[in-house]
Amino acid sequence: MPRDMSPDEFREHAHKAVDQIADYLRDIRQYPVVPKVEPGDLTADLPASGPEHGESMDAIFADFERHILPAVTHWNHPRFHAYFANSASAPGILAEMWMAALNINGMLWKSSPAATELEQVTLDWFRQWLGLPEKQFGIIYDTASISTMHAIAAARERADPSSRTEGSTPNLVMYCSEHAHSSNEKGAIGIGIGQNNVRKVPMDLEFRMRADVLRNMVEQDVAARKKPFCVVSAIGTTATSACDPTAEIAQIAQEYGMWLHVDAAYAGPAAICDEFRPLFDGWELADSIVINPHKWFATPVDLSVFYTRHPDILRRAYSLIPDYLVTAEDSKVVNYMDYGVQLGRRFRSLKLWFIMRYFGREALAAMIREHCQWARELGDRALLDGRFDIGAPIPFSLVCLRLKGPDEKTFALIDRVNKSGTAFVSPTALNGKTYFRIAIGDIKTTRDDVDATWNAVTEAATALL
Ligand SMILES: Cc1ncc(COP(=O)(O)O)c(C=O)c1O
Repeated sequence: MPRDMSPDEFREHAHKAVDQIADYLRDIRQYPVVPKVEPGDLTADLPASGPEHGESMDAIFADFERHILPAVTHWNHPRFHAYFANSASAPGILAEMWMAALNINGMLWKSSPAATELEQVTLDWFRQWLGLPEKQFGIIYDTASISTMHAIAAARERADPSSRTEGSTPNLVMYCSEHAHSSNEKGAIGIGIGQNNVRKVPMDLEFRMRADVLRNMVEQDVAARKKPFCVVSAIGTTATSACDPTAEIAQIAQEYGMWLHVDAAYAGPAAICDEFRPLFDGWELADSIVINPHKWFATPVDLSVFYTRHPDILRRAYSLIPDYLVTAEDSKVVNYMDYGVQLGRRFRSLKLWFIMRYFGREALAAMIREHCQWARELGDRALLDGRFDIGAPIPFSLVCLRLKGPDEKTFALIDRVNKSGTAFVSPTALNGKTYFRIAIGDIKTTRDDVDATWNAVTEAATALL
């Protein structure tokens, strides 16, 4: 029989781990953001089979430092600017420790009242900070991709309740912009709508969905006896952080009886700042909204918040209660297992609660403002420098740049910056040309970090041109 560590052994090793983590966070800038490894390097360093007999924590920690850390891409590095930068803040890390220790499965209220009720309370606090109207049901899923899949499932349930029992209706069609995140298509694939039934609506010159074209496409589909059932409006697209005209899209959705899902996975937290609210105009009319605190809200991966005004429909889409999960409290409580495909659920609200309490709204809003300010400044520097093109407006904290000239130069710049270890930037394609994205989103990022990133970019440009 295996014997778990005694509390005293755990204390000893936990203190060591916390010391290591504190050192890691203190020294994070000494690590190259992107590891200097080749595919297969780590695999080759590790034994081909697991140990027959247990090993000491000292040996495990030592191998973690020797083999694993050098192959880590440091998402928690303040100069990680690829994809959408995020951060695991210290209160979030502490909450993760408690989450692991409690090991709660929050499938039912009964399976842990704290998990259910804290999720309800924190999501209502968060809703208030975001300025969303009162009538919202909140639930935490792991990722925005899963949140969006549930939005599509609820939309389908509303459009065709028989699909739950009979399978998908063949003529359902949904819409999103050409720059909408791939999770929309994946969600449609996942619940059987089919990739070909996801229409990509063209965008205007600033990469926002064209609502007039959406209307035409919907009308054409209706004329062809298709059934438009869902439209996704992005507030903060992945490529450029553009904001679709959600209020106009909401109007069209209402006219044609489509479910409106808002993908604010990245930019959502900016709604806690009054000055960004106009970009969110119309999201209060959405049938569902996704926002990822694990992107721009100092929250360790994973935590995706989903709001809907129609919990009854979401519940109808997925609720299935086997006898062994019936409880005496069912009529009085929310059992979150009824609102999604998964049964087991982590106690994720604990980290949101720690984070919201530790920082407070004002400090988190200040972080978002600062990130946006630095991104705009990067845009100004690029213009002044003269060697770069700016790909898109900068509504939030993402800048898209390219070196003037052929695409190869920009690819080479991305490679050079990333290999330097100073920063991590990622590519995107706009109007057939390659750009690099600098996303600012880590609570630890300072203006000095942004300067260091910019220096790495300009040094690479000088070497290449
Ligand atoms: C706009 C947008 N939506 C959805 C997603 C998917 O997020 P997740 O990784 O939480 O599934 C992303 C990821 O970057 C995104 O940028």
